[in-house]
Amino acid sequence: MGSPIFFLLLSLAFSSPLSSSALIAISNGTSISVEKPDILISPNGDFSAGFYSVGDNAYCFAIWFSNSRTVVWMANRDQPVNGKHSKLSLLKNGNLILTDANKLNVWTTNTVSLSFVQLSLYNTGNLVLCNVDGVILWQSFDFPTDTLLPQQLLTRNTKLVSSRSQSNYSTGFYEFFFDNKNILRLFYNDSGISSTDYWPNPWLPISDAGRISYNNSKTAVLNSLGNFSSSDDLTFVSADYGAVLHRRLTLDYDGNIRFYVIGSGRKCSCPPGYKMKNRIDWADGCELEVDLSCKQTESGFLMLSHVDFYSYYGNDFGMFFNYTFDQCRDLCLAACDCKAFEYSFNEYYGYSKCSPKTRLLNGYRTPNLHGDIYLKLPKSKILSLPNPLEEFNLNCPGDGTIQSGRNRTQKFMLWFACGVGGLEIISFFLVWCLFIKTEKSLGVDKQAYDRAAIGFRKFTYTELKKATKSFSEEIGRGAGGIVYKGVLSDNRVAAIKLLKEASQGEGEFLAEVTIVGRINHMNLIEMWGYCAEGKYRLLVYEYMEHGSLADNLSANVLDWEKRFKIVVGTAKGLAYLHEDCLDWILHCDIKPQNILLDSTYQPKVADFGLSKLQNRGVLKNSSFSNIRGTRGYMAPEWVFNLPITSKVDVYSYGIVVLEMVTGKGPSGSVHAIDDGGEAEHKRLVTWVREKMKKVATNTSLLEQIIDPMLVGKYDIFEMEALVQVALQCVEEDKDERPTMSQVVEMLLRQEKPSH
Ligand SMILES: *[C@@H]1O[C@H](CO)[C@@H](O)[C@H](O)[C@H]1NC(C)=O
Ligand SMILES: *[C@@H]1O[C@H](CO)[C@@H](O)[C@H](O)[C@H]1NC(C)=O
Ligand SMILES: *[C@@H]1O[C@H](CO)[C@@H](O)[C@H](O)[C@H]1NC(C)=O
Ligand SMILES: *[C@@H]1O[C@H](CO)[C@@H](O)[C@H](O)[C@H]1NC(C)=O
Ligand SMILES: *[C@@H]1O[C@H](CO)[C@@H](O)[C@H](O)[C@H]1NC(C)=O
Ligand SMILES: *[C@@H]1O[C@H](CO)[C@@H](O)[C@H](O)[C@H]1NC(C)=O
Repeated sequence: MGSPIFFLLLSLAFSSPLSSSALIAISNGTSISVEKPDILISPNGDFSAGFYSVGDNAYCFAIWFSNSRTVVWMANRDQPVNGKHSKLSLLKNGNLILTDANKLNVWTTNTVSLSFVQLSLYNTGNLVLCNVDGVILWQSFDFPTDTLLPQQLLTRNTKLVSSRSQSNYSTGFYEFFFDNKNILRLFYNDSGISSTDYWPNPWLPISDAGRISYNNSKTAVLNSLGNFSSSDDLTFVSADYGAVLHRRLTLDYDGNIRFYVIGSGRKCSCPPGYKMKNRIDWADGCELEVDLSCKQTESGFLMLSHVDFYSYYGNDFGMFFNYTFDQCRDLCLAACDCKAFEYSFNEYYGYSKCSPKTRLLNGYRTPNLHGDIYLKLPKSKILSLPNPLEEFNLNCPGDGTIQSGRNRTQKFMLWFACGVGGLEIISFFLVWCLFIKTEKSLGVDKQAYDRAAIGFRKFTYTELKKATKSFSEEIGRGAGGIVYKGVLSDNRVAAIKLLKEASQGEGEFLAEVTIVGRINHMNLIEMWGYCAEGKYRLLVYEYMEHGSLADNLSANVLDWEKRFKIVVGTAKGLAYLHEDCLDWILHCDIKPQNILLDSTYQPKVADFGLSKLQNRGVLKNSSFSNIRGTRGYMAPEWVFNLPITSKVDVYSYGIVVLEMVTGKGPSGSVHAIDDGGEAEHKRLVTWVREKMKKVATNTSLLEQIIDPMLVGKYDIFEMEALVQVALQCVEEDKDERPTMSQVVEMLLRQEKPSH
């Protein structure tokens, strides 16, 4: 240690309360009291340790950065002590204890020493209790709270646990530690009620996440330059790699891990053409400066290189392979809700990938990214941006403290952008958190937000029984089981499906459920979780306010615009199921009962995935042994025992569209032609087809096809297009039917800007 006088002076400058004094160390037999708050200071002055106020008359013994007062460690986060008569004492026997006003011992190091001991704060921020021989008896680095400091090891015995909220330091819901497979993971732990790991993606094979599980040394460390490396091969570097002061890695209360550097603050900015929604709070994200017009001629695109947005399913409305750049651009131009598209070309495999995005979440920029993002902006805006990329690199409104980097291109530039009013939090270099969001959970409700970050979890039977008030409110019934309405403990309304006596084992069930659980698209019902306990198998879904399409059709509450929206949305959902590159899922039971409508009549396809998952390769060469589906909507392949492909869903979809246009359903709808069953839907298809042949010469015949309930209130061009598409979908020969993404494309060409 250096000169005590020097350090004393230095530390006085940092400590604010007048009565307190700065100490270099305390020895056995002395104590620090809360009223006369002595503060331990590290020799370099960077860190302080002492009583830290966490609320009215509530104090925790903590370590913080001297200049910013940012807490990096706490002894008693869950049991603050009184502002009077509390003290931290280093007993003669070598034990360090924290006592509350009532002499209650709230925290202790449980150390014993027969010799002289002393407590001091090192330059690294480590609070160390050592004896006269320099042997370390206890150190705060072995008991982290939510923060890891450079050189502090994360081991098999330690974990980071987030705090409750930004202002409440008590134990929160998120944990970061090595699991029993030697993988460093992020967990959500609801006070022991349930625990879900969410990063790396639990469904991803561990090697795909770039980790290894064979190294059981379970150590991770953040070095002084900002390189974090772990024995499971996880490594990442801070955005401002290099020797900077006061770096820390914190598991924040929202479940994100972030690097922080004093003085640089959060580095974020809005993408060009966007502005902060709330000038003082980044958490609200960005919004367009000027609204996008739906007129195709008024929008253009701005290329952002090496940029991507978080694309966890729901943000993209599909992936289109082998599209040319122009086709991809036109697709985005034609869709009003398209905010940007990503276009990339895989040289190795020789195909291109086009993914239009409807929401822009967690944008980030890294030189390693090969795809480019084309941001849709009003043409006038694009012309007025001088040098857009430069601007968004430097401009960080509301946060003037951004450090200008030595090597800017090496930096991972972060910004958030929320196209549809989303709430997202940045992370500096990686998107750590699965913000699986539905439009509904985007509200201000903090609780809902925390839950949304988890997306999918296991429920207990008791929890679900309570949520459904002992399964009292039945809202649907199907082959698979009965669906009940329920309210979860976080107040979300859910549809809870109690599956019929499950023959499936828990493992098999889980395998299917987790695959479905990770599917997230705005036009597919979101699964929030499941329960597998004893003989019970339950699925928890989001609740859909307006019930099924079948109910709505028979109640005659859907005008033309709603019907068109439902037709397009359903197609998008199915296209996503079929053509998502990871798994390939056939629905096999598309019918109006399985298309549900939310509060805005946005359709979501329900009941997909379970027991119907098929491997793309396997499916090509095999046929299903059991016939699935519902009479009236089933493709001829089922009957003729032909190979089952995604085209069976296309067929059923076509029937549903015809039903929506004509109001004539195959199963007992008010305008059924005559006796039910197979014969009838054949007749519906034939009937429409014959009418359409004649329409070529006499357009007024179209009016005979349309649902009379619409009494002339419909768009005749859209209607004709829909019928054409539907008729292609119900071709007898499956090879003549379009794929679902071709259907989407055909429909989007029709969609008018106002939709
Ligand atoms: C922090 O949150 C915990 C758990 O909700 C609560 O018991 C405690 O009173 C809160 N503390 C403060 C200072 O608000
Ligand atoms: C600390 O402990 C040593 C060894 O037990 C003892 O000699 C010394 O007096 C103690 N210091 C105080 C201030 O009690
Ligand atoms: C979850 O939290 C509870 C109570 O806070 C704790 O006892 C338990 O050990 C935690 N579980 C895990 C896996 O960390
Ligand atoms: C960070 O550390 C890991 C493991 O020691 C190493 O492989 C990697 O190259 C380092 N990265 C940088 C940028 O230094
Ligand atoms: C395991 O990880 C540690 C720490 O990163 C490393 O030092 C060691 O060499 C690794 N062991 C093996 C077998 O890879
Ligand atoms: C894209 O085109 C390439 C080259 O023509 C072809 O090999 C590949 O199968 C196509 N991919 C898809 C998904 O159509």
